[in-house]
Amino acid sequence: MASVPFDQLEGEIWFNGAFVPWKDAKIHVLTHGLHYASAVFEGERAYGGEIFKLTEHTERLHTSGEILGFKIPYSVAEIDQACTELLKRQGFTDAYVRPIAWRGSEMMGVSAQQSRINLAIAIWQWPSYFKPEERMKGIRLDIAEYRRPDPRTAPSRSKAAGLYMICTLSKHRAEERGYADALMLDWRDQVAEATGANVFFVKDGKIHTPTPDCFLDGITRRTVIDLAKRRGYEVIERAIMPDELDSFEQCFLTGTAAEVTPVSEIGPHSFTVGEIARNLVNDYMAEVQPKQAAAE
Ligand SMILES: Cc1ncc(COP(=O)(O)O)c(C=O)c1O
Repeated sequence: MASVPFDQLEGEIWFNGAFVPWKDAKIHVLTHGLHYASAVFEGERAYGGEIFKLTEHTERLHTSGEILGFKIPYSVAEIDQACTELLKRQGFTDAYVRPIAWRGSEMMGVSAQQSRINLAIAIWQWPSYFKPEERMKGIRLDIAEYRRPDPRTAPSRSKAAGLYMICTLSKHRAEERGYADALMLDWRDQVAEATGANVFFVKDGKIHTPTPDCFLDGITRRTVIDLAKRRGYEVIERAIMPDELDSFEQCFLTGTAAEVTPVSEIGPHSFTVGEIARNLVNDYMAEVQPKQAAAE
């Protein structure tokens, strides 16, 4: 399938306070963010014309920047307003929203205190992260070679571009080997998450998920924990070891892009797409609809 490169899409991008034509939203090759990964970003989805948990995402963007030592020069309210207006200008109701903040070109060395902090927001249509036909059958995960790092080694609470290097490597290797994605362990060899989504398991009617102490505590993860509790399911956050994988009956991923996606295999371990996973797929899809539309 030939697809249009992302720099050739149509519409506008919000770029440091102005709406600019999509193809003109360019930066110079000597940009600190490009060379030293001094960039943080968000991934959000709009449903029915509203961005789900927009302010929570924008607050996380601000926090991610602060963890990398910079302050984004637009308030949370200004960024929320820019995202909302851009969604309207792009004319989409269901879409993916990508704000990114990065250090500019004013200093080109490891140290970059005087660099300008830039912010851009792009919105495009991105229907389903995993192939829809695979999704309800459950996707297959490889086990990644790379580990999520110790929080003393990398700022793991920031949604920082640099942390995705090992995710891209792991996802490429998984796809080469015929899998949809990879499960990553952490530096202690505990189960951590997939390359762009959190992971949950089901055993004896209870939900188990790793404690997010060295990877992102996803906004979808927290939403799904609330939805599970609303249904009366017990949710246990704890350290999960890989030798437990065989004892779990169901498995699913959560993330803004992945939404709730059942998993059928992790390496040699198999899971069924059971009632709890299916209920949470449906509850999440209902939860993300704008409240007015949901009430109709
Ligand atoms: C590495 C990683 N973990 C977890 C998540 C899930 O986070 P959220 O549910 O906030 O999208 C994402 C997606 O942003 C991610 O990239």
